[in-house]
Amino acid sequence: MRIALSLALALVAAPAIAASADPTTGEKIAKAECVSCHAIGRDAEAKSPDPKAPRFVDVAKMPSTTELSLKVFLRSSHRNMPNFILAREEIDSIASYILGLGGK
Ligand code: HEC
Repeated sequence: MRIALSLALALVAAPAIAASADPTTGEKIAKAECVSCHAIGRDAEAKSPDPKAPRFVDVAKMPSTTELSLKVFLRSSHRNMPNFILAREEIDSIASYILGLGGK
């Protein structure tokens, strides 16, 4: 409840950023930047090129995955990709794309 409230406040305070989250853009970024390791599509049979990298469809279905958890994860670095830096709008778009795979 408290988290929902502060999220709502953050969205009110930053409408331009909230509006920039676009799953189509997120899919494009995923195809360019993530597909070398992750299976990024809806196909539950696909295998990630890097067996340690979870498929995005599985990430989306994890009970612990939320918009906030994805954004926090993508703002900190991947263990195997220390210099991976995404712009804030890119993170928002990727998060909305991944959540969409799980129907969230
Ligand atoms: C060089 C390979 C590589 C690339 C490129 C890569 N990842 Fe990953 N990713 C991994 C590996 C390995 C893991 C699992 C271990 C870890 O968490 O570091 C992972 C884990 C994740 C997770 C799981 C977080 C969780 O809650 O368990 C997410 C989400 C994710 N990556 C998103 C992305 C996105 C989005 C991109 C592209 C913008 C991307 N990754 C690009 C290798 C990669």
